[in-house]
Amino acid sequence: MSKPLNVGLIGYGFMARAHSNAYRTVNNFFDVPYRPVLRTVCGLVDAEAKAFAERWGYQSHTTDWKKVVEDKDVNLVDICVPNNLHAQIAIAAAEAGKAILCEKPLALNATQGQEMVAAVEKAGVPNLISFNYRRVPALTLAKQLIDEGRLGRIFHYRANFLQDWTISSEVPQGGMSTWRLDVKAAGSGVVGDLLAHCIDTALWHNGPITAVCGMTETFIKQRKHAETGKVEPVGIDDACTFFCRFGNGSLGNFESTRYARGHKALYTLEINGEKASIRWDLHDLHRLEWFDHRDESKLRGWRSIHITDVGEHPYMSHWWVPGLQIGYAETFVHQIADYLEAMDKGQPCSPTFREGLATQKVCDAVLQSAREGRWVEIPD
Ligand SMILES: NC(=O)c1ccc[n+]([C@@H]2O[C@H](COP(=O)([O-])OP(=O)(O)OC[C@H]3O[C@@H](n4cnc5c(N)ncnc54)[C@H](O)[C@@H]3O)[C@@H](O)[C@H]2O)c1
Repeated sequence: MSKPLNVGLIGYGFMARAHSNAYRTVNNFFDVPYRPVLRTVCGLVDAEAKAFAERWGYQSHTTDWKKVVEDKDVNLVDICVPNNLHAQIAIAAAEAGKAILCEKPLALNATQGQEMVAAVEKAGVPNLISFNYRRVPALTLAKQLIDEGRLGRIFHYRANFLQDWTISSEVPQGGMSTWRLDVKAAGSGVVGDLLAHCIDTALWHNGPITAVCGMTETFIKQRKHAETGKVEPVGIDDACTFFCRFGNGSLGNFESTRYARGHKALYTLEINGEKASIRWDLHDLHRLEWFDHRDESKLRGWRSIHITDVGEHPYMSHWWVPGLQIGYAETFVHQIADYLEAMDKGQPCSPTFREGLATQKVCDAVLQSAREGRWVEIPD
């Protein structure tokens, strides 16, 4: 019998839906030691929080996140709010002894992230940051192949995350649907929002990044603020490209923008090793492309592996039959399944806040490099 685990969810937007779906689904597909109970949801507008609670089956709702953190019956605080609120909620939740699931990026910057790491480690509470792409079966398989040494020495790691939704100067900054354009709420633009995902996957696949050299651009310098109605300077990066060196000697090349007309969420990555290469594309997230130089030369070429083998492919034994794929929503189910298992065993679940801080340090270094026009080293 699984034990109840009372969830207090803060936020009722995009990620709150993805996480709620995972809580409601996980026990149907995974034999995990806990059963999430949807105790309370919190958000800015009372009527919207109430409607969310009714739709998803939360027992109560509130507009005050402190009530969630202080609720003695809440076991897990789940933070799905804009980035500027992550630190204060996570630190309060740690002090209240709650397990925490926090959306990415960890914080507005590494200084704040360090405080969050100190708080969860001092309190000894379970902590996980939601870099959900680690739980795409194709990317989990990629990690296994790298760790098995099948690529040999790694030479190159490149990743892109391209969107096109802020090209119009009419898009405002700030407020509920466009807080990502307001530097006070988001901390940064594409660096913290999109490249943080690419960096987390890269650190996981390829080890530490030791130095970065980046450039950023803010194409539209002023936008109306949705809350004040005034035209104000834009403080976020609209686009960023950076190079880096990894500790294993390989070179990295990363690009992200919200100005790539035609692309909605094109996250792609490629890793080139001495023996083999890997390629992945979020639009076909259930496929891993593989090139193996050791193949017989007349048949050598890129293979497109459909990641649906229930016997061999990560997570797939929990789903359907070979040939039937899963998608984006399931990455959050995998995330909560892994977290519940780790929590029961008293083990950390990756990526922890400390691992989230490593990504935050790279983000900070990229922004510093772009500001100062020079390479920036990242200490161990
Ligand atoms: N893992 C991923 O792939 C992924 C994808 C999207 C967003 N995110 C992250 O998730 C977080 C939330 O993003 P989103 O897209 O769900 O945002 P959203 O705009 O859809 O929702 C934000 C929610 O925060 C609530 N909120 C704002 N201020 C609040 C306050 N003071 N008290 C209580 N609630 C408050 C709002 O009511 C709203 O429900 C961000 O940190 C973002 O970077 C991660």
